[in-house]
Amino acid sequence: MINAYIKNISFYVPKKIVTNDDLSSMMDTSDEWISTRTGIKKRHSVGDTNLGPADLAVEATEKLLKKLNISKSEIDFVVFATSTPDYAIPGAGTVFQHKMGLGKIGILDIRQGCSGFVYALSVANQYIKAETYKNILVIGAEVQTTQLDYDDQGRGTAIIFGDGAAACLVKGTTENKGILSTHLHSDGEFIDELSTKYPSSKYKDIINNKNIEDREHHIYMNGREVFKHAVKRFPEVIMEGLEHNNFNADDLSLVIPHQANYRITQAVQKKLGVSEDKVFSNIHKYGNTTAASVGIALSEALDEGKIEDNDIIILAAFGAGFYWGSVVIRW
Ligand code: ACO
Repeated sequence: MINAYIKNISFYVPKKIVTNDDLSSMMDTSDEWISTRTGIKKRHSVGDTNLGPADLAVEATEKLLKKLNISKSEIDFVVFATSTPDYAIPGAGTVFQHKMGLGKIGILDIRQGCSGFVYALSVANQYIKAETYKNILVIGAEVQTTQLDYDDQGRGTAIIFGDGAAACLVKGTTENKGILSTHLHSDGEFIDELSTKYPSSKYKDIINNKNIEDREHHIYMNGREVFKHAVKRFPEVIMEGLEHNNFNADDLSLVIPHQANYRITQAVQKKLGVSEDKVFSNIHKYGNTTAASVGIALSEALDEGKIEDNDIIILAAFGAGFYWGSVVIRW
């Protein structure tokens, strides 16, 4: 039997750093409020460079190829997760294919918000197991900062997001390692608690001046409501993954949750009853990078020597949709 495993992973964040103090000069907020409510100290932004998620993904992929010492011609399929594509139509995958100079290979676009990386890995897992492809590039890339409402009325949402990209190579192995299972969920009842409403194909002309006056072209988040669901769904979907594989929390070497809010990460850690060092966090440096966040965190955890061969790790995500999910891995 073939198992899918992550051969290696890299990430890229744009150079511009936006600190909490920078945000305080744009809206009624403070470093103290943002730090204590979210754990975030700074985030990276494309600023006015006109770089999109495909550009950030190219940078992350170039770093990955260098690390692996392989040529881009070895990649035979791509799964590209972003909720902020370079073009409204089509997805970012084809923009990436062209900029990266890849062959005419297949690319699948994934739009599951913060759960994008977890969903993308689940797709790669199936293609590798079915022996359809040998070297699948999985990308989570996001440019959120260009669509945020940097004004007092947007302060509850704008302060959490940053830009970035992660790229990993998923391959097959006959060894007893790699992705053990994936667990995916959704619930559309809460779509309006976290979404960007316009432009929308439902309406003639897709967006009008009133929508813009009402600021409905910016991402809206009912933070309190999303928080409530997140602290329930994260532990639930992690436990689902553990139970499916007959593991318990003690078997876990590391949980890598989507970096949404440090308070959510702490709540997950307490609910699982594991020590603080078993739940990875880098939100203080990057904020919430949506589809890129789990990949960036995994890449840093590896670089920091926090994951060793045979470790059981769980990637977990929750976000807009709501979509949520987990991936159980024997490294
Ligand atoms: N600075 C200062 N005050 C603020 C700010 C700010 N940036 N934002 C809101 N406030 C005020 C509010 O107006 C409110 O004031 P009031 O009590 O006088 O009405 C007060 O602070 C509390 O506001 P809340 O919204 O209740 O603040 P909360 O503690 O919930 O923190 C936050 C907000 C950080 C957004 C939090 O709710 C959160 O992290 N939610 C979950 C985010 C998440 O997981 N998202 C999913 C992934 S994203 C995706 O999928 C695209």
